[in-house]
Amino acid sequence: MSQTPHLVVAAADAPGRAGPLPRLDRLAYGGDYNPEQWPEHVWAEDVELMRTAGVNLVSVGIFSWALLEPAEGSFEFGWLDRLLDLMHEAGIAVDLATPTAVPPAWFRRRHPEARLVDRHGTTLGGGARQSFCPSSPAYGEASARITEQLARRYADHPALVLWHSHNEYGGVNALCYCDTSAAAFRDWLRDRYGELARLNDAWGTTFWGQRYGDWAEIEPPLAAPTAVNPAQQLDFLRFSSDTHLANFRRERDILHRLSPGVPVTTNFMLANCKTIDYWRWADEVDVVSNDHYLRAEEPDNHIELAMCADLTRAVASGRPWLLMEHSTSAVNWQPRNLAKRPGELRRNSLGHLARGAESVLFFQWRAARFGAEKFHSAMLPHGGTDTRVWREVVALGAELPRLEPLRGTRVLADVAMLWDWESWWGLELDWRPSVDLDYRERMAAYYERLWRDGLTVDFAHPERPLDDYRLVVVPSLYLTTPAAAENLRRYVAGGGTLLVSYFSGIVDGNDAIHPGGFPGALRDLLGLTVEEFLPLRAGETVRLGPATADLPGSSVGSTPPVGSESLVGDVWAEVVSPRGAEPVLSYSDGPAAGRPAVTRHTLGAGHAWYVSTRLDAAGLAPVLGAAYRDAGLVPPDGAADGVELVRRAGADGSRFLIALNHTDREVELPATGVDLVHGTRHDGVVRLPAGDVRVLRT
Ligand code: GAL
Repeated sequence: MSQTPHLVVAAADAPGRAGPLPRLDRLAYGGDYNPEQWPEHVWAEDVELMRTAGVNLVSVGIFSWALLEPAEGSFEFGWLDRLLDLMHEAGIAVDLATPTAVPPAWFRRRHPEARLVDRHGTTLGGGARQSFCPSSPAYGEASARITEQLARRYADHPALVLWHSHNEYGGVNALCYCDTSAAAFRDWLRDRYGELARLNDAWGTTFWGQRYGDWAEIEPPLAAPTAVNPAQQLDFLRFSSDTHLANFRRERDILHRLSPGVPVTTNFMLANCKTIDYWRWADEVDVVSNDHYLRAEEPDNHIELAMCADLTRAVASGRPWLLMEHSTSAVNWQPRNLAKRPGELRRNSLGHLARGAESVLFFQWRAARFGAEKFHSAMLPHGGTDTRVWREVVALGAELPRLEPLRGTRVLADVAMLWDWESWWGLELDWRPSVDLDYRERMAAYYERLWRDGLTVDFAHPERPLDDYRLVVVPSLYLTTPAAAENLRRYVAGGGTLLVSYFSGIVDGNDAIHPGGFPGALRDLLGLTVEEFLPLRAGETVRLGPATADLPGSSVGSTPPVGSESLVGDVWAEVVSPRGAEPVLSYSDGPAAGRPAVTRHTLGAGHAWYVSTRLDAAGLAPVLGAAYRDAGLVPPDGAADGVELVRRAGADGSRFLIALNHTDREVELPATGVDLVHGTRHDGVVRLPAGDVRVLRT
């Protein structure tokens, strides 16, 4: 191995610039690199083209366990030695993976007990990836062994700047129902409850005579003739997320011990992976990294991108994070894999950067010739360098160094939205009042409204202090812990403005209904009770108009008007009885006709709004508009629809504006500043061509 100093290594304690990668003190550009799929003579071309494209970081070895340990306990590192040396000589840093997402075929053969089993008891096959039981002790031992080998061998390699543990934990093997998993689940339950009586109580096992007399009687929630105990299902989801976390911790601790000073990450799938509770992982990684794939067919899919990026920043506690994977163009696994349009690769990349990413990394460097992902786009397409995608990759690589001043600056957010995996799990278990209750749909609709109003969102865990925000939006919080309810009460009483959507505050952490009537945990805060849920038929709509009725316990009048236009809700209505809240809008028709639909409650120095039906992003405009007024929030002027604006601030007082034009026409923005890329000064007005992005120091 070569030991010359690495070209891109910078002082780990570079003043004021503690980025996510102390040894790569610049915006990272590159992606997953799988050279093991190519003869070695291709590597030289790879290196040359990487340099042309400005690549400075590659993730290697992600799926290479079978090559590194071809037979149990016998290791072959020659090719990886040569590769890391080659990267180092070329000045390209390495994010080295532990290859534990795909155990070799010998492992599967030797450990049939470590195979993944689904809820129907079917053992799943190999020849794919992540086809192993996450609770398997044999897997734990084997993955620790290969991790140790890699850490010992490469800890001091000058190309190494980051460890990449596994790949997308829980991506396709989130839940395993085999006997080993069942035993591990019981151990986890013993730790959580201590005594069986406490478990019986928490799970409400007097219902349907499910009482357990012995720990050994407890099973994972296997496919059953009818709905399985919801508290049991929630605990199984918690257990499973914790099991993957334990696997990560095992590898991370080995890497920390044997390779001190090199940060460890694992790639998350924020907002798109339901089964991993990333709040619990947030403090476990040295740097948060995320994979994001555009929902190619969805209109305005850049809004979903922004939502995922904002959630990633939240899980990173506001610190810089790494975009570990996205695509240059089409993926291969969506129903219709639309190619990105010219300019979209750049817009997507800068969209992540705007919201806190300090890297633009792709899956993958060179398009694969064989295997399941051969139709996936890459930085270097099958067509080589005479392609639009390659030209866009090279152009972006040349542009990124000019955006360096963004590094280490903070995204300025106006609003907090609460996100909670446990509540997502709970909401979508069986037998809810309507199959149309959809956690992510509500999050996306409220997020879209805020995005279209030009407001930047920080996501927050429901129990985390919210005092930094003038407005907190809660699109869906079915499962609300007493601590979360108290947190929200304190926030409003202290002067905050809160907006809560329907079917929130309903159950506790065991999926048991908060006593005293709906929405138990938030009743006093919202100043109302919900006597009855009135889910609507598929396709049925209800109209909302100005509140007229003077209902007992309510006082119409002092509330800021929401706008008198008639709004249309669907999916859900309720019998809302104000207990101190003011009706702002009422149902004009449908099963809740004449009852309040939107209310506002004054509590202490703040206000708590409630929206009892499903409004789409357009319908939410007047309602959120009224809440903005309460919160003293003024959506920025001049942002045309489809133009995304993100503001950043540096510790030194510097200010930046990133403007992304997602429309097909030129727009003008009121802004003054210097364009970081072109060096041009704009006074008062910035012209932003269709599809273009500007980064201004303002
Ligand atoms: C990611 C995964 C990559 C690759 C990519 C394709 O989820 O981490 O290995 O499969 O998807 O889009």
